[in-house]
Amino acid sequence: MSTTFTLDTSTSRANPTPAPMKRLTVPAIQRRKVEGKTDEPLVMLTAYTARQAQLLDPHCDMLLVGDSLGQVIYGLPSTLPVTLDMMIAHGAAVVRGSYHSLVLVDMPFGSYEASHAQAFASASRVMAETGCAAVKLEGGRAMADTIAFLTQRGIPVMAHVGLTPQAVNALGGYGARGKSQEEHAKIMDDARAVASAGAFAVVLEGVLEDLAVAITDSLDIPVIGIGASAHCDGQVLVAEDMLGMFERVPRFVKRYENIAETISNAAERYAAEVRDRSFPTADQVYRPKK
Ligand code: KIV
Repeated sequence: MSTTFTLDTSTSRANPTPAPMKRLTVPAIQRRKVEGKTDEPLVMLTAYTARQAQLLDPHCDMLLVGDSLGQVIYGLPSTLPVTLDMMIAHGAAVVRGSYHSLVLVDMPFGSYEASHAQAFASASRVMAETGCAAVKLEGGRAMADTIAFLTQRGIPVMAHVGLTPQAVNALGGYGARGKSQEEHAKIMDDARAVASAGAFAVVLEGVLEDLAVAITDSLDIPVIGIGASAHCDGQVLVAEDMLGMFERVPRFVKRYENIAETISNAAERYAAEVRDRSFPTADQVYRPKK
């Protein structure tokens, strides 16, 4: 079933959508890094729903439909159980809710690692059924051939190296990477390999800052940091983390709001008014016109 419907502004609760703007493209994102430097850092946030996309879109260059939705939206223990169908449903919603940002969708665990054919089948489904402009996949040198296979067939790929959450069982946790010389060299090699393979950009997650600086300076493609360095060509955060939706705040997150408290306070006031019958008032009920 196709999920690439457009947003029905007559039934949406949101304000009418703004006049469609020309969306940022993969080449436009790449052009932001000139001779190894990015003057204006690229802004990327995760988005999982149409309404969230509408609110974030005007402020971002890229919206990532991250497989972190497994934990953030579905309460799963990791990103591993996330399916292609989940990514496609949320990806299509984010495309419907945005006009300006480039939308990219994460390839979930198990949907691309087995073979080039599997990766192409999964990525082409994601692109066709969501209308997104690119996919993101985790892995460095081991995934370089797959990245080349996809990009040569018209599927732009953002790579993801450093701390790669889909490999949590192999890595033994979510701790920062690049602490030993060996790990430092491996992550540098991973970043170079995905860039040579044709990735248009790379997410660099959870690495020591000196490594993030060295990788950013040595690649021609934009390096988007998360738990990396302000020196990167751009930054990404999970929107719910920076909005303050959760109690646990990882070191690399800065909270710009406390949305959990806002929601909890509103629910508490609503519950009290339902219980003492002060809601609904005359303003919220239907009565015959006089
Ligand atoms: O899934 C995700 O949200 C991500 C970002 C944190 C980079 O991969």
